[in-house]
Parts: sequence; C-alpha cells; structure tokens
Amino acid sequence: MLRSISLRLAAWYALAATITLAGLFVVGYQLLESYLVHGLDQLNTAEYEQIRARLGPNYQSLTASDINQRIRATTKYASVLFYIEVDEPGRGVVFYSNNLDGRPLPDVPHLHRFDGTMPNIGRLRLAEFILRPLDITIASSSEQVYKDMDGYVEVCSGLLGAMLCVSTLIGFALSRMALKPVRLIRETALRIGSDNLSERIPVSGVKDEISELGRLLNQMFDRLEYSFKEIRRFTAEASHELKTPLSLIRLQAEKLLVKGKLSPADEEAVQMQLEELARLNHIIEELLFLSRAEARAITLILKPQQPSRFLSVFAQDARVLAEHHGRRFELQCDGEGPAAFEAQRIRQVLLNLLVNALHASPPQGVVTLRSSVSASHWRVSLEDQGPGLPPGDRDRIFERFVRLGKRTADEQGSGLGLAICRSIIALHRGRIWAEAASEAGGLKVVFEIPTSDPPAAASGPSSAAARTQVPTIPKVAGT
Ligand SMILES: Nc1ncnc2c1ncn2[C@@H]1O[C@H](COP(=O)(O)OP(=O)(O)OP(=O)(O)O)[C@@H](O)[C@H]1O
Ligand SMILES: [Mg+2]
Repeated sequence: MLRSISLRLAAWYALAATITLAGLFVVGYQLLESYLVHGLDQLNTAEYEQIRARLGPNYQSLTASDINQRIRATTKYASVLFYIEVDEPGRGVVFYSNNLDGRPLPDVPHLHRFDGTMPNIGRLRLAEFILRPLDITIASSSEQVYKDMDGYVEVCSGLLGAMLCVSTLIGFALSRMALKPVRLIRETALRIGSDNLSERIPVSGVKDEISELGRLLNQMFDRLEYSFKEIRRFTAEASHELKTPLSLIRLQAEKLLVKGKLSPADEEAVQMQLEELARLNHIIEELLFLSRAEARAITLILKPQQPSRFLSVFAQDARVLAEHHGRRFELQCDGEGPAAFEAQRIRQVLLNLLVNALHASPPQGVVTLRSSVSASHWRVSLEDQGPGLPPGDRDRIFERFVRLGKRTADEQGSGLGLAICRSIIALHRGRIWAEAASEAGGLKVVFEIPTSDPPAAASGPSSAAARTQVPTIPKVAGT
C-alpha cells in the first residue's frame, strides 16, 4: 500500500501512460499486420493476372497438358515466391508448381482469401481465383510477415518498459511539483505551536483549491491565537487577582494565632489553613510564571559559567536533601567549558527533578546526576532507581497538573513542577525529555541547553551576560 500521495499519483500516471501506449501498440499491430497481409494478397493477384494472360482468351479449349505447359513456362521463376495449384472439376489437378512436390495446397471452402500452413513450408497466405472451369489457388509464404510482427512486438515491449520507467519519473516529478504547496502547509503547520501561534502559512495569489485551504487554515490559526491569548491573559490576571485576597486571608489567620485566644483544636485548624494557603499561593506563583513564560514576558540573564562549579555547589544541598529522605545522591561531571545559563532558574529545575526522583526512589536508592559538556551542548541527566514510567506517560508528565501513580501524604505536589522545568529549559533554548534509566526500571530526565552564546540583546546588564526573551518551547522528546 503506497502511503505517499506523490508516489500514488506517480504510479497512476505511469500506469495510465503505459496502458494508453500499450493500447496504441495493439491497434498498430493490427494495422501493420493487415497492411502486410494485404501486400501478399496483391502479390498473389498479380501472379494470377500473369497466369491468366499466359493462358490466353481460349483457355477453355486447352488440354490439361497445354495448360500445364503454359503455366509452367510462366511460373518457372515465380515458383521461388509462389505456390500454385490449378484444378479443373472433372479432370482433377491439372497443375502443381514444382515447389509443392505434388502436395495439395490447403483449402477453406467459401473463402477466397485465407491463411494456412503446410509442413516444411510453414505459414502461407492463399488466394483462390475462379477462371471457369479452372480453379486457380496461389499462395505466398507469410513467414516473413510474422517474423516482422514478432520484431514489432519485441520493440514495443522494450518501448513499454522504457515508457513505464520514464513516466514514473515524470509522474513523480509532476506530483512533487503539484504537491509543493501542500508540503509547505504541512511544514508550517508542524512549526506552529502554542509558543509561535503568530506564524502563518504562505498563500500564493493564485485562487486555487490549495491556496483556499491555506487561507482557511490561516483563519483557523487566527481564531486559535486569539483564544490562546485570551486564556493566557485570563490565567495571568486570575492568578494575579487571587494573590491579594489570599494575602489578606493569610494575614487574618496569622492575626488569630498571634492573639492566642484560640483553643488548641482551633489553633491546629488555623495552622492547617495557613499551610493550605501557602500551597495555594505556591500554585498561583507557578501558574503566573507559566503564563508569563508562554507570553514571552520573562527575561533571563544568561551568563557564561562553568557547569561543574555550579553543580558541585548544588550537590552539597542535594546530598543533604537525599539523606533527609534516606536516599543517596551522586554527581558525575564530564567535560569542561562554559555554558550560558541563569543559575537560579537551572537550580529550580534541578531541585524539582531531584525532589521527583527522591519521591520515586526506594529507601537507600541512589539518585545520580550526570553532566557532560560538548562543543555545542551542556547535557544534564538525573536518574533514579524508582519504578520508572511506561513510554506513553514519559511525555505527559511535562503537561500541567499531570500527576501519576499513588501519592503519599508528604507528596503535596501540584503537578506543575515539570511544566515549569520545560518552560525554563525552553527559555534557555534547550529541550527536556524523559527516558527509561535502565532495563531494570528507573526514570532518567534529561535536559540539554546550547553552550554557544545566545544572540546578544541590545542592552544587557553586563558585557559578559546576555538576555534572552524569545523562547521556543520545543516538543518534549521521549524515547
Ligand atoms: N522520577 C520519577 N519517577 C516516576 N514518576 C515521576 C518522576 N518524576 C515525575 N514523575 C511523575 O510525574 C508527575 C509530575 O511531576 P511534576 O514534578 O510535574 O509534579 P509533582 O512533582 O507532582 O508536583 P510539583 O508541582 O510539586 O512538582 C509526578 O506526579 C509523578 O507522577
Ligand atoms: Mg515535582
């Protein structure tokens, strides 16, 4: 089954062209054959005319031997080409040409022009002429005609093969040319994502079906972009608006605690409220960050620095955190060289990955952070010995509010951590994905950011640092 339209069109084109040519060749075969056979018929008729002239007007009074003599004199040389038999009802055969060796020519009753075969001679074209009372049959060999026809078939088969190849190539080139606008639509549509909804499909001025499709898709993208903007604006505004009343509630609750007039049970209830408020506040902060990152309203200060130095500082905190959870933390650094990143944000990413890995790891499990720097990328992976995730879930965990598996009481996450990690890595022009840590299980979350200097902004806080404000949020790759 051909899956590409180009290939299918090329195949149909080649088939149609070859079948048309084959049809023409069949018609040509029949025309050529009847033309050549007609030529033999004319030769036979010419020979008959010669015999008739030789017999003369009084042929009816001639004896059998006279007839034989006259015809033989005429056909002395012609017997190389013609096979001749003369019959006379009542007298039987009165003449056989020498080349027949006394054998009778084939006869088809009621037909005057017909084909036949004779042993040792092969295929013949025969013509029967009535010259009362004589019945003259003249035949010519049609072997050459059929040899010519076989040659014709050979040449045509070769030409059909060539036609099939050439028309496949032409068909493929034509279909690729015709489908070029469709490919353009496909490539643009693939590029358009939530982060670059302003891109549009280039539409030519020609009013055809494909440009109409491009225009319709562009209109759909207009509507999508408007809806996305509205949702982002709403999330940002709602998060912002919620912060003030939440702060007021928190202040009120703290005031109640400070006054100290609450019963122990009420005090505990207020404490719980404060904890939940802190969690809510945290979620609102995270949502605000995500909507600002998607609206490209966050400016990072990317500073070239040594990843190994940054990671060894992070490792000190990570070890303490791992020990607190009863797990072990290991760091492996390969390669040297500066990478441009904002330490605070990358630390935020690493912390979220570490907390996730610690929650997933079994007691005494090892969480390994690996870093390698190449000429083009700084690659970091955090690997745990937990249960891991099935391939279908490894992309989903980077979506907002996605939390999988059973949660324990101390796992109070909101499901926004990895979505934020993805935004931060995208702000660094990098990508993040999850894969299986090993055959035995475990999850490895990997991120890569380019080590090359980002395009310098017009104004920066220092010459060594550069700002980036144009994130391209890539599709999260999974394995
Ligand atoms: N190392 C891991 N092993 C197994 N599952 C994981 C791992 N890391 C993340 N997950 C799954 O992905 C989900 C999303 O993780 P994410 O960090 O986005 O949210 P969270 O940790 O639940 O909450 P928070 O917003 O506090 O980070 C987790 O709830 C967990 O189910
Ligand atoms: Mg998390």
